[in-house]
Amino acid sequence: MALFGKDETGSMELKKELLPRHVAIIMDGNGRWAQKRGMPRSFGHKAGVEALREIIRHSDHLGIEALTIYAFSTENWKRSAEEVGALMGLLLEYFTKELDELHREHVRIRIIGDIDDMPKGLEKQQQALYNAMERTKENTGLKLNIALNYGGRQEIVRAAKALARKAKDGEIDPAAIDMELFESELYTADLPEVDFMIRTSGEIRLSNFLLYQLAYAEFYQTDVLWPDFDKKAYDEALLAYTKRNRRFGGV
Ligand code: IPE
Ligand code: IPE
Ligand code: MG
Repeated sequence: MALFGKDETGSMELKKELLPRHVAIIMDGNGRWAQKRGMPRSFGHKAGVEALREIIRHSDHLGIEALTIYAFSTENWKRSAEEVGALMGLLLEYFTKELDELHREHVRIRIIGDIDDMPKGLEKQQQALYNAMERTKENTGLKLNIALNYGGRQEIVRAAKALARKAKDGEIDPAAIDMELFESELYTADLPEVDFMIRTSGEIRLSNFLLYQLAYAEFYQTDVLWPDFDKKAYDEALLAYTKRNRRFGGV
């Protein structure tokens, strides 16, 4: 089967039926990108937001159903107050400036991670995130999930705790706990399986991202630093995905 078709403008386009339904991305390398330019790390994060904007738009254009991006891990609080502040500031700016456009494009925004429990001083950011989710919750376009104060282990423990509580309250029978019920307590409950996981900047590790959900995802890593990850680099990754042979334990 041909991997490419042509769109109405005559340019090459990836065949929609071969694309992953759900893409997850670890956006990594902002700091190194800035350091290479003799600039502070926050400069890299700013450039990283621009890259994110392009990748969201392109995912939407390609008709990808769900995109989950790793924006801030539960471990990223270890960074300097200055860097954390810059990251949170950029996030607030993004969700206030881009919200109208994302909404117009029917993007449904969800934050995955523990945003109820953010340190003091981030109330404005928190509010912007709740607003973005509330405003776009009925949208039927791209399902955009932003992992923020997210940790895969925390997510699994949280699900276990929720089920334990329900069992204790007599809402569920512990014997009835199966994968489906467990998955219903994860942040990704109503999303399709993650098919494809991209990590930029050459690191080959999960860094506590979607530990449960990536069980059968195809992994892709590139040395490109996140701020340089553009539409073309994304297409290249997606093309590689279309050539993978997914067996899911079969032959
Ligand atoms: C990824 O870039 C962005 C976040 C973690 C928020 P980094 O800031 O980790 O950049 P490097 O890995 O230090 O280059
Ligand atoms: C993972 O990147 C987190 C995000 C991209 C948000 P890190 O840069 O924090 O991961 P490590 O520390 O290299 O594993
Ligand atoms: Mg990093």
